[in-house]
Amino acid sequence: MIIVGNLKMNQTLEEASIYESKLTNSGIIICPSFPYLPIYKQNGYELCAQNVSEYNDGPYTGDVSASQLKSLKVKYVLIGHSERRHVYKEAQESLNNKVLKSLKQGMQVVYCIGETYEQKQNNQTFQTIENQILSLFNIIDNNDINKIIIGYEPVWAISDGINPGATPTNQEIDEVNKYITELVKEKYNQNIKILYGGSVNLNNIEQLVKLNNNAGFLIGGASKNVEDLLKIQEICKQ
Ligand code: PGA
Repeated sequence: MIIVGNLKMNQTLEEASIYESKLTNSGIIICPSFPYLPIYKQNGYELCAQNVSEYNDGPYTGDVSASQLKSLKVKYVLIGHSERRHVYKEAQESLNNKVLKSLKQGMQVVYCIGETYEQKQNNQTFQTIENQILSLFNIIDNNDINKIIIGYEPVWAISDGINPGATPTNQEIDEVNKYITELVKEKYNQNIKILYGGSVNLNNIEQLVKLNNNAGFLIGGASKNVEDLLKIQEICKQ
C-alpha cells in the first residue's frame, strides 16, 4: 500500500531532523515543507512535494519549479490539494499547468479531488469529482494518465476542517472509488490508483484498510506524530 505523509506547514528545522531520524526510510512517501526536502534526500527517502510552480524556472519570486524539485530527487507532487483549491483559490487552469510541468520532469502527480460539505449535502459528490477528473484528464496525454494517482479527500473530512475527525463510511468511499475507477476506464481506458485522505488516524485505519479499489492513504494531521504514522503503516501491511 502507498502511504503518503503530508506534513503540511509544520516543524522547525530541528524537529524535521528528529522526525527524519525516526522515520528511518520505512517506505513511507514523505511530503515535508520545501526547505526540509534535502534532509530526506540525503538518506534516499521517497519524496513528495506539497506544491509546485505552474511556471518554468524564471522570475517567479517564492515559487519552486518542477525542475528544481526534480534536482532534489522528488518523485511525487501533490496538486489540487483542497487547501490549495480553497484557501489559495487555485484555478483548475493553474492546477493543469502544474501537472503538465511535473509530468514533463518525469514526476508522478498525486492529484487531489473531493467534494465540499455543501456539495455533499446537495448530492453533488459524483458530479464534483467527475468534473475535477475530466478537467485535468482531458488535457493530458492518455499515456500520462498512469503517472497520476488520485487522492480522494472529501474537503469536509480533512482533520482541521469544519468537521474534525469525521470520515465518510467505507461504503461511501467504496462508491466513490468505484465511480472513479469506472470513469477513468470507460473514458480513457486506463486503470487508476486511488488513495483515500481525510482524518485517517490510528483509530480508524483498521476500518479504512478494508476499502475496495484503494491503493493507500494520504495522511495529514496523524503524520505529524512519526510513531503514529509508522503504526498506521504497520496496520496497512497486515
Ligand atoms: P488530514 O489531512 O489527515 O489531517 O485530514 C489530509 C490531507 O489534507 O492531505
